[in-house]
Amino acid sequence: MTKNTVTVTDNATGKSVDFPVRESVHGPSVLEIGSLYKEFGYFTYDPAFTSTASCQSKITYIDGENGVLLHRGYPIEQLAERSSFLEVAHLLVHRTLPKKSNLDEFRATIKKHMLLNQGILNFFNGFHYDAHPMAMLTAVVSSLSAFYHDRIDISDAYHREQIAIRIIAKMASIAAAAYKHMCGHPVVYPSNQLSYCGNLLNMLFSMPTEQYEVNPIAEKALDQLFILHADHEQNASTSTVRMAGSTGTNPFAAIASGCAALWGPSHGGANESVINMLNEIGSVDNIQKYIDKAKDPNDPFRLMGFGHRVYKSFDPRAKIIRQTCHEVLEALGINDAKLELAMRLEEIALQDEYFVERNLYPNVDFYSGLIYKALGIPTQFFTVMFAIGRTPGWVAQWMEMLADPEQRISRPRQTYRGPSQRDYVEEFQRG
Ligand code: SDX
Repeated sequence: MTKNTVTVTDNATGKSVDFPVRESVHGPSVLEIGSLYKEFGYFTYDPAFTSTASCQSKITYIDGENGVLLHRGYPIEQLAERSSFLEVAHLLVHRTLPKKSNLDEFRATIKKHMLLNQGILNFFNGFHYDAHPMAMLTAVVSSLSAFYHDRIDISDAYHREQIAIRIIAKMASIAAAAYKHMCGHPVVYPSNQLSYCGNLLNMLFSMPTEQYEVNPIAEKALDQLFILHADHEQNASTSTVRMAGSTGTNPFAAIASGCAALWGPSHGGANESVINMLNEIGSVDNIQKYIDKAKDPNDPFRLMGFGHRVYKSFDPRAKIIRQTCHEVLEALGINDAKLELAMRLEEIALQDEYFVERNLYPNVDFYSGLIYKALGIPTQFFTVMFAIGRTPGWVAQWMEMLADPEQRISRPRQTYRGPSQRDYVEEFQRG
């Protein structure tokens, strides 16, 4: 079958050039326009990357129109119901669902690396107790580059796999140490007898003064939430990791740049903003007032946890999390009025034409905070939980970028709109 092309014609000069179309396995094909500037002297202009593919990837596919999310071809609904977070991490990083022996080895290796160098723990002493946990996470993840730099060779696939193990393992321990610093409590070390999520819960909530038992309901809920956050194609934080990584920088520094990007309320910071928004709305009676604020073009207020750049239908993750939210709150015997408020807000918004005509639906962040809250995790810590879940995706995408022969340093261009060239004016001559 001959390759399809798209002809671009410059009407100013009459020049026409055929640009090749590259087929995708799923989703839109792409137009290879790398030679556009050479052929026509033009750059493309797409500041929010709404029609721009930055890379080729085999990791995750999203169909925004139909609410489909696949990791290495496996539907998120099946992974959320039948897999585990570390099995999904293996799938993302190693491209396959592991045999039992491989998964056991992967799990054991990650547990081994959850212990942090004491020097890393010392960094927390420099933070005020009320420092935002995402500030601490971003800083301390970056500090890993001070401990693992000279001995790693990112051009070596084995070294890249070791880096993936380390960052997945240590993200949870750094997160837990940040929480203990917030509480003014001693750090709890990981235990090789516990699962990844069991370890995280133990490092977060166990105290030297009493025996702590991991609640299996909380352990399973966390594991599923981390599966649902594990990767999501070329979102802002993943694209940041890829761009930083494209310079050949230390991988821990690149992942820290992903933490920084995730923190924003338009991205992973939305789960914290949703709870703050529900607190502000307060009761079902106030919902319409806030729906009207969200619709008002002159009001900066947006319905947090709603809308998505890619999903123009229900975020499949939101559907699963909403169901899990009901199950976890019931199993823990928690009657949280905010769940009722969130559901009524969703119901009213989805009947409002403003949201319907803009295809604004609940996204992954709309219900996740209600589960974290039920597990005793403070609101400011919700984005840290998102970062733990997203770490396998970040590092898998970083690995794929380095191994892609078509990838070079990412260096976008611009349309210059500043002053025309002019001569320097001596100070005494300035008006
Ligand atoms: C995540 O990219 C990913 O995959 C991200 C993520 C992942 O897993 O990595 O899925 C995680 O970040 C989920 C999104 C979390 N953010 C929020 O919940 C914040 C609230 N949502 C919005 O800020 C917004 O919907 C975004 C940021 C998510 C998407 O922004 P877009 O694609 O730039 O959408 P837009 O601003 O172009 O909106 C289109 C229209 C606009 O109205 P008009 O100009 O057409 O009149 O929809 C309106 C917007 O004003 N709109 C909203 C809205 N979201 C969009 N109006 C009210 N409330 C909202 N939430």
